[in-house]
Amino acid sequence: MERAGLLKFWDSSVGKKVVMGATGLILVAFVILHMAGNLQFFAGAERFNAYSHLLQVDLIEATWILRLTLLVAVVLHITAAYQLTMRNRAARPADYVKREPQVSTYAARTLRWGGVYLLLFIPYHLMHFTIGNLHPAFARGQAYGNVVIGFENVWIGIFYLGAMAFLALHLYHGTWAMFRTLGVARPSNDPLHRRLALALAIIVPAGFSLLPLSVMLGLVR
Ligand code: HEM
Repeated sequence: MERAGLLKFWDSSVGKKVVMGATGLILVAFVILHMAGNLQFFAGAERFNAYSHLLQVDLIEATWILRLTLLVAVVLHITAAYQLTMRNRAARPADYVKREPQVSTYAARTLRWGGVYLLLFIPYHLMHFTIGNLHPAFARGQAYGNVVIGFENVWIGIFYLGAMAFLALHLYHGTWAMFRTLGVARPSNDPLHRRLALALAIIVPAGFSLLPLSVMLGLVR
């Protein structure tokens, strides 16, 4: 697509939705892989630290490519979401009577507020486990110990579990919205799509939650 065509595409509401869907797909792939990788926590400290070493030292160039890809995807995803929200707001006539929120606006609202929570969670999470400037006992290369120490503070565990609840809602509504956009913005009730969105929204946050829960319940020390 030439430059003018690309700008026109970005300027259209469908274009922004396609960008949201495509970047969302990249982010979904990342959370699935990250969750699966995290389950190595239950294979013990040596295995988990070796996995972290692989990503942070042996494959650091690939890790940087991944980081940049994620950053671009997140920025485009949020920019398109923000601009679509502003457009919808501008297009809606002023309310004379306060209306009950409709089901569709409920989904959109949980996406937005969930998005804001996740936006606060991600920088915190990076400082917590990757940069390591939030905890005096953080030790580089000791990912296992850092996770255990991190979740020994119940409030931090609760904050993470809250993020996983929002991640579940976000994955459910987001995947659903993406299927709609890929079907060229036509609403559909395809039960397979709904089941896929539901499975993703349960499995990924549940897998992530096993780490804080196992430490908070004293099963892993
Ligand atoms: C309970 C949930 C989660 C746990 C326990 C967890 C755990 C971790 C750990 C231990 C690291 C450091 C890995 C290392 O040292 O190599 C890490 C890195 C990271 N996590 Fe998570 N994570 C969780 C959820 C998430 C979610 C939901 C996202 C994104 C939406 C996310 C995004 C990242 C990113 C971007 C990195 C940095 C990778 C890098 O640049 O090196 N995490 N996570």
